[in-house]
Amino acid sequence: MTTDPPSRRGLFLAAGAAGAAGAALAPARPAAAQQQQEGERGALQLRPTPRPYPAPTAEQSLRMANLLEIEEAASRIIPEGAFAYIASGADNEWTLHENRRAFDRYPIRPHYLSGPAGLDLRTTLLGQELSMPILTAPMGAHGLAHASAEVGTARGTGEAGTLMTIGTAANRTIEDIAKATPGPKWFQIYLMDDAGRSRELLQRAKAAGCSAIVFTIDAFAPGASDRVARLGFSFPPNLPLVNSGTAVFKRSLTWDDVAFIQRTVDLPLVLKGVLTADVARAAIERGVAAIQVSNHGGRQLDGVPAALDALPPIAEAVAGRVPVIMDSGIRRGTDVFKALALGADAVALGRPVLYGLALGGWMGVKSVYDHIRQELTRTMTIAGARTVKDVQRNFLF
Ligand SMILES: Cc1cc2nc3c(=O)[nH]c(=O)nc-3n(C[C@H](O)[C@H](O)[C@H](O)COP(=O)(O)O)c2cc1C
Repeated sequence: MTTDPPSRRGLFLAAGAAGAAGAALAPARPAAAQQQQEGERGALQLRPTPRPYPAPTAEQSLRMANLLEIEEAASRIIPEGAFAYIASGADNEWTLHENRRAFDRYPIRPHYLSGPAGLDLRTTLLGQELSMPILTAPMGAHGLAHASAEVGTARGTGEAGTLMTIGTAANRTIEDIAKATPGPKWFQIYLMDDAGRSRELLQRAKAAGCSAIVFTIDAFAPGASDRVARLGFSFPPNLPLVNSGTAVFKRSLTWDDVAFIQRTVDLPLVLKGVLTADVARAAIERGVAAIQVSNHGGRQLDGVPAALDALPPIAEAVAGRVPVIMDSGIRRGTDVFKALALGADAVALGRPVLYGLALGGWMGVKSVYDHIRQELTRTMTIAGARTVKDVQRNFLF
C-alpha cells in the first residue's frame, strides 16, 4: 500500500502533498487473493496493482502548467491497473495519439489590430447557460480515481459553472450525482437488453434534473487496451456500477434505439460518437437535438480518425441546425479554440477531469476547468476573438 504524493514536476498541490486520509476508506485487496484471481484469469501479469481504492488524496486546489502533465502526476496516485484503464486507448493507440496530433495540423490565424478586447466566454447549449464552452464528458467509474467518485466530479464541474454529463456506468447513483451540482447536467445512456431497465434509468435521470439524454453509439462492444490486458486489470468489487447493476448492455444498436429513447423520455437527445456527416444528417432528420463528434477518446475503434479531423465535414452537414459538441484529445485552450473554429459549439473534456479528481477531489476538477478557462481566455484575447461565436474558420490558416 502506498500513499505516493503526485509528481512535483510542473504540478503543485496548494495544500501540500497528497494527504493519506482517504487511505483508510477502503481496504486494499489482499495481495494473495489478487494474484489468485489474476492467475485464474490467465492474464499475463507483468506488474502487480498494489495500491488501494479509492486513491488517497485530500480535496485541494491544484496549480499546474498545463493539463497534459497532470496525467503523469495522476499516474502516481491512481492504482496502476485503474490508471491504465483510464489513460489507454484501444489496440495500437493510433487513434488515441491522432486525437492529439490533429491539433498540430491547424495553425491559428490571429486577427491583430482588431479593436478592443472585452472577452465573454459564456455560451448557451440546449438552453443551458455555461460559463465557458467546455463541459464534462460522460465517463464510467470515477471511483477508480477518487473516493468521492462522480459526486466529486459533478461538484467540481458545477463550481466551474459548467455542465456535468452523468454516465450510466457510474459508481454513485444518478440522484446523488445530480444533487452534487446545482448546475446543468445531462445523462448518458448505455441501453440494456432489458428495455424496462433502460426506461427506468431514463426516467430517473429526468426526475433527478437531467435536461438532456446523451446516447453513445460507439460502445456497444467493448474496446480493448493492450496496457489493460498486460496488467490484468478488472473492476474492483468495491466499486459497483450502482445504476446499471448487473444488467447486460445491448450489443447491437439501430435507429430504432434512437426512437426508443425519444419515445421514452421527453428530453432533447444528444447523439455521441458521430464521426461521419451521413450519420449527423440522418440524426437531424430523426429529431436529434445535438451531435457529439467523438471517437470515445481513442478507446473504442482504433484506426478511426481524430475527432478534430472528423469535425469539419460534420459541422458543414449540420450547418447550424443543431449544436455540435466535440470531444477526444482536448487538453489546451488552443485546442478548444481550434475546435470552435472548425465548427464546434462546445467541447467536452474526458481524462483531464478524472486526473484532476484523482489529485484533488472536487477542487482538483475545478482547478482543471480554471486552468483551461485561463488558457482559452488568453488564446481568444491574443487571437482577437471576443465571444465564442466569433471563433470561426477565418481564425485558422
Ligand atoms: C475512463 C473513461 C471512461 C469512459 N466511459 C465512458 C462512458 O461510460 N460513456 C461514454 O459515452 N463515454 C465514455 N468515455 C469517453 C468520454 O466520454 C470521452 O469521449 C473521451 O474521454 C474524450 O477524450 P479525452 O479523454 O481525450 O478528453 C470514457 C472515457 C474514459 C477515459
